[in-house]
Amino acid sequence: MEIVELRSDTMTRPTPAMRRAMANAEVGDDCFGEDPTVNRLEEAMAALLGKEAALFVTSGTQGNQLAVRSQTHHGNDVIAERYCHLFNAEAGAAGALSGVQVRLLTGERGVFTPAQMEEVIQRGDNVHYGRTALVAVENTHNKSGGYPWPVEALSRVSECGRSNNLRVHMDGARLFNACASTGLNAQTYTQYVDTVSVCLSKGLGAPVGSVLAGDQATIDAARYYRKMLGGGMRQAGVLAAAGLYAMEHNISRLREDHDHATRLGKALADLENVEIDLDEIHSNMIFFSLRNGLDPFEAVDRLSEEGVRMLAMKPGVIRAVTHLDVSGDQIDRAIEVCREVLTRVS
Ligand SMILES: Cc1ncc(COP(=O)(O)O)c(C=O)c1O
Repeated sequence: MEIVELRSDTMTRPTPAMRRAMANAEVGDDCFGEDPTVNRLEEAMAALLGKEAALFVTSGTQGNQLAVRSQTHHGNDVIAERYCHLFNAEAGAAGALSGVQVRLLTGERGVFTPAQMEEVIQRGDNVHYGRTALVAVENTHNKSGGYPWPVEALSRVSECGRSNNLRVHMDGARLFNACASTGLNAQTYTQYVDTVSVCLSKGLGAPVGSVLAGDQATIDAARYYRKMLGGGMRQAGVLAAAGLYAMEHNISRLREDHDHATRLGKALADLENVEIDLDEIHSNMIFFSLRNGLDPFEAVDRLSEEGVRMLAMKPGVIRAVTHLDVSGDQIDRAIEVCREVLTRVS
């Protein structure tokens, strides 16, 4: 049975062309700075994001946590949004590895305001309190249906951060989805942040890797901490080649995934048992719930038996994520299966 994989955009597999690029990559020892393909990827990503330097890292988590580690000291505060990945889904790393406390703000679709920041910023001028060193934003905001930060809101948060001597980090795991959603280029967003991490292994289809970009001094520090954490890689050019291939071929097609998400969402909205807000589909993610007492975990099991994989999450929400391994025909198939299964599941 053909599987329609909608659990996550991390499920993409390298295509034969990407694998050829990997096999043909020129390599060297990256811990000596001698892997030409890694160097090319870092230069290309720094240029695309409008930053001085970039660092190839193993994952989005590593990119975020190196951003925290290299821009804070133990005991500092970091401001982040309540449902962000950096705090909620990175194994407690900010506390464990950087010794920081995270102050969570409740955003609207992940977006918070300078007024909320001002309430929690610690200026280090009172012996009782810590000092806030960093503010982090997530763009697109995963838990808010892949919502792209409005640029105006980002510029205000950035200005507030900078005027309070905070560094500003963007978890841009899906920054290029934000660009595809709004039509803006990456630098329109990244001009407002000091560091940005982007993932190659989600909608861009590479098997491994993310890139952290920023000013040279911060990236040098991040390189040092990456080594400290065992993330120094050797002939990583085989992986970087996949990233370069993804940059060249897979950024420009992300809009297609968003169109698929919208089409699937609209079809789901027609089903009596489905509760979905179409205005909350912003990029490649759909969240919906079930009416009439239907159990989402059971529904996801039934869908999976028919070859359509989605993710049931607390509290009773189902997530579907589109990506380059889901074709238009597969969206048709998913719609057909949802019509069949979600009307009869009990
Ligand atoms: C918004 C966001 N940031 C960071 C990450 C972490 O990426 P990785 O799984 O590569 O560590 C994810 C992963 O899904 C994510 O959704």
